[in-house]
Amino acid sequence: MTRINENFIKLPGSYLFSDIAKRVAKYSEENPDKKLIKMGIGDVTRPLAPAVTAAMKKAVDEMGSAETFRGYGPDYGYDFLLEAIAENDYAARGIKIDKSEIFLSDGAKSDCANIGDIFSVDNSVAVCDPVYPVYVDTNAMAGRAGDYDEKLGWTKLVYMPCTAENGFIPALPEKTPDIIYLCYPNNPTGTTATKGQLQVWVDYAKKNGSVILFDSAYEAFISTPGVPHSIFEIPGAEECAIEFRSFSKTAGFTGTRCAYTVIPNALVRGGVKLNSLWARRQSTKFNGVSYVTQRGAEAIYTDQGKKEIRETIAYYLENARIIREGLAKAGLKVYGGVDAPYIWAASPKGMPSWDFFDMLLKKAGVVTTPGAGFGPSGEGYIRLTAFSTAEATAEAVERIGSIL
Ligand code: MLT
Repeated sequence: MTRINENFIKLPGSYLFSDIAKRVAKYSEENPDKKLIKMGIGDVTRPLAPAVTAAMKKAVDEMGSAETFRGYGPDYGYDFLLEAIAENDYAARGIKIDKSEIFLSDGAKSDCANIGDIFSVDNSVAVCDPVYPVYVDTNAMAGRAGDYDEKLGWTKLVYMPCTAENGFIPALPEKTPDIIYLCYPNNPTGTTATKGQLQVWVDYAKKNGSVILFDSAYEAFISTPGVPHSIFEIPGAEECAIEFRSFSKTAGFTGTRCAYTVIPNALVRGGVKLNSLWARRQSTKFNGVSYVTQRGAEAIYTDQGKKEIRETIAYYLENARIIREGLAKAGLKVYGGVDAPYIWAASPKGMPSWDFFDMLLKKAGVVTTPGAGFGPSGEGYIRLTAFSTAEATAEAVERIGSIL
């Protein structure tokens, strides 16, 4: 008799964003005349940059000609893209990353989830609270999270509260975890960490032999000088950290799919380079990102591509400003949204997250994400994204203001 992975049975409900999508679909079906504005899942609305689509069209033509056609690409990405990443995302910031330390993939979500393959199931795992649910759910699936308790969350996970009181920077846990997930600029709070704050974590991980899994998917939104874009800006991080990056939010690739993970050669645990383990994992389980997509991603690093990407990011950051200022004017306490596309807003009068979510859906026709869906410390908050169009963003802020 085939036995299933019973860890899946322990998972509560469905994946947060699927759950919200179902609720919203049901509401729309029952209220077909209501025009909803979606500021829930962080999906982009601006089209791919012209430099990207031009490069992709050229690559499509190459694929359609016998002389230039390509089959399987290199497992970890074509050199042209790995070199562009090493040069522009790292060397330009004074960070030395070799192309052998970069692994291209179809998404930071997949990489954050799949990285668990190279770690023992016995490792203890710490996550920020609130947190991007993928880190939690995938560790639960692997059997590292224990059992789920409605009130306490996962029994074996170390939750590190990130609250307004601690500036959304977690305190070092009492019991040292083996694996530590950090995400800055943060999803969901939209807040950032300073170099000094990240240095504390790097020193801690090095001293204890832990590994930091650093999700930097939103670094392109950093507009404040001095805010670190990469964990590898922090001395010593190459010996204790893995970094995840994505083109999804940086360049509108949510539907196109391209991301990468950096594992320095200096990161060794149990006498083994983690880079080699991930290389083995990827070459066995993954066949690479399409050539057309990689050419599109490469175009982001041209002068024209950089200019176009900057314009798109500026567009979303302006939306973020409108949301931040509009909600503050309506009397809400708001965080984030300066160096990130997410705004974290406290519910009025301490209203539970899901109640506030429902109120905004039904009275204002605005879809948000309830903070409680990101973890116990997210209770009493909602998250809004700045990824809508400018027009929809302005209308959503006006609608919310009118019902508060
Ligand atoms: C989010 O809304 O948190 C993100 O869009 C989810 C993701 O990138 O997978």
